[in-house]
Amino acid sequence: MHLLLRTGLLLLLLACSQKNEDPPAATESEMRTYSELSGLMLGVQAYQKVLRDSVRSSALQLPDNPMDLARLHSAQATDSRELEGNYHELADRFIQWNDSVHSGSKARRIEAFNKSIDACIQCHSSRCPGPISSIRKLYLPVSDSDS
Ligand code: HEC
Repeated sequence: MHLLLRTGLLLLLLACSQKNEDPPAATESEMRTYSELSGLMLGVQAYQKVLRDSVRSSALQLPDNPMDLARLHSAQATDSRELEGNYHELADRFIQWNDSVHSGSKARRIEAFNKSIDACIQCHSSRCPGPISSIRKLYLPVSDSDS
């Protein structure tokens, strides 16, 4: 059991430091366990993609966020050191920009959305660089706001 836990932990740490975007080999993903925060992050990322597409297509109604973002502050991480420093400040910044996507005018949505992605990247660059290249792909082209 102890060994299994250690293996899971190692794989999670690898997920954070992973540089390429290839999906992990089947054996790895079968063995992988997720921390509460990782699970939350995967949900946040999936929702951000749906949100981005709605913002891009100037949808009248944006999809409700099914995630409880307040949990960013309380979820257990693989390594509690990841939650040190400015973690909570950056989590709030992300939550605030995400709220602005929903509450702001249609014209400001793209800006607010991209600011929320800035917050993802800021937090990730100091503690979990692995997913950054895939997070970058969420950015909306600013020229979209002209059309
Ligand atoms: C306030 C800091 C912070 C913000 C903001 C943040 N993250 Fe994370 N993210 C983390 C930490 C820390 C982990 C590692 C969690 C762990 O190892 O338990 C993580 C893990 C992840 C993972 C890896 C999950 C896995 O284990 O495979 C993905 C993907 C991810 N985040 C995407 C995002 C996206 C997309 C955003 C913005 C929409 C975002 N994150 C915003 C701190 C943050």
